[in-house]
Amino acid sequence: ESFEETPLLVAILTYIGYAILIIFGHARDFLRKWNLEPVPRAQEPKPEKGWVPLYQSFESFYTRNLYRRVRDCWNRPICSAPAAIFKLMERYTSDQGWTFKYTGRELECINMGSYNYLGFAQPTGSFIDQSEEAVHRYGLGVCSSRLEIGSVDLHMELESLLAEFLEVDSTLTFGMGFATNSMNIPALVSKGCLILSDELNHASLVLGSRLSGATVRIFKHNDMVDLECKLRDALFHGQPRTFRPWKKILIIVEGVYSMEGSIVRLPEIIALAKKYKAYIYLDEAHSIGAVGPRGRGVTDYWGCSPRDVDIMMGTFTKSFGAVGGYIGGKKSLIDHLRLRSHSCTYAVSMPALAAQQIISTMRIIMNKTGDDDGPRRVAKLAWNSRYFRARLNKMGFIIYGNVNSPVVPLLLFCPAKVTAFSRECLSRGLATVVVGFPATPIIEARARFCLSAAHNRSTLDRALAIIDEVGDLLRIKYSTKQPPLSSHSECDLQFIKRFSKHIYTSNVLEHFL
Ligand SMILES: *[C@@H]1O[C@H](CO)[C@@H](O)[C@H](O)[C@H]1NC(C)=O
Ligand SMILES: *[C@@H]1O[C@H](CO)[C@@H](O)[C@H](O)[C@H]1NC(C)=O
Repeated sequence: ESFEETPLLVAILTYIGYAILIIFGHARDFLRKWNLEPVPRAQEPKPEKGWVPLYQSFESFYTRNLYRRVRDCWNRPICSAPAAIFKLMERYTSDQGWTFKYTGRELECINMGSYNYLGFAQPTGSFIDQSEEAVHRYGLGVCSSRLEIGSVDLHMELESLLAEFLEVDSTLTFGMGFATNSMNIPALVSKGCLILSDELNHASLVLGSRLSGATVRIFKHNDMVDLECKLRDALFHGQPRTFRPWKKILIIVEGVYSMEGSIVRLPEIIALAKKYKAYIYLDEAHSIGAVGPRGRGVTDYWGCSPRDVDIMMGTFTKSFGAVGGYIGGKKSLIDHLRLRSHSCTYAVSMPALAAQQIISTMRIIMNKTGDDDGPRRVAKLAWNSRYFRARLNKMGFIIYGNVNSPVVPLLLFCPAKVTAFSRECLSRGLATVVVGFPATPIIEARARFCLSAAHNRSTLDRALAIIDEVGDLLRIKYSTKQPPLSSHSECDLQFIKRFSKHIYTSNVLEHFL
């Protein structure tokens, strides 16, 4: 795990950068107020006397004056499959992102931004043919909820295959990944319960926790000392005011954190949960399929038993190239959710073609097709992630996260460099995602690369050459420490060696790791 401190000078320059932007933002807000600068958006009418304006948070100031300041369009539409090489529509804005104009050009770029971890978001292959057959058999929509007449046989087939894949008793699938979190947490905890939530948990977990009515306390990211402290405190003091014991304590964590590239310290969390009799809710949106020697997520990665995790949650939107989410666990848990979860009782169920895509790709990952395609994809992703990260480290960038994570964040810090990085990379044929506040702390803006089994060595080398060039241009090679040499466990190295021979002929591994 690497989290290099922000160099002091960079931090100061970043704060100065934001200070200038904020001063200009206030100046422009002032001009807009007196109608000296045109305001393209639908404006909030002057609040009535005694009313508070509806939008006045810092976040809306940030969106108006910082995020929308440039001619670039951050949310670029794509017009091809999100494969290793894809096409973007070129568009620009001349009114701070209120409207966009297409230039009519398509940009062919290397795709380092899609969550296409195992490369299954491709438009051809046996699984696409099978999904197509499913459309011809079932149509596109299911037009009912799971609890009524919206369960087709493919859902049952998917759920039993998934139980085998996750090594749990029972599973339940949902049509939307986000709703899997936001609608199931309220079915599990309520008032009088305590949620201990990692500070970097995804918005869907945060929303679900808030909707549940339980008390939410935040612990520092992946910090076991802080978590234990909060657990002890919860047991010792109980509920506020009444001092009654908490009904339940639920620890909510993610497998791989998508902004940080870190991997949850699961064995320690399991030990703590056992010691203090708390439950664990594990969100594997970015880890299922993407980490572990068999691609079965963080339990596979750490060698933990999935039965030690009470609620195994994940999504099909990334590694499986489909849509929806799941929850796995004991049969009693799943039976309860089947009746109580709003996304089971009230939401329309997953389209049959998506269920078929997941079944087909999961069978490939499990090597049930017998052609080694799945294990190769898992190994290739692992190799690609390590190679890409190691090369960036060597170039002198500050990179966050775990060496095994397929998400590789490269720190940019200064607001101007965030824009410039995105623009310069795009003009050289590399598309990636840049993220800043509020998704990250305000000074830790970054570019986030997502690796994929669809990338090959030559594509990655091209991408790395572009990043290297842009890095020199923008002077963002901030790292002052040598990349760690021996952060790989012995078993890791064995794993990479075994597979790198399969995948790449030249053994460049020793060189970089
Ligand atoms: C996948 O299945 C094939 C055929 O059964 C087998 O030869 C191969 O060793 C399997 N691969 C892995 C990684 O288990
Ligand atoms: C690598 O991938 C690119 C784009 O997907 C493809 O054009 C190229 O032929 C591949 N190279 C090799 C060596 O397979």
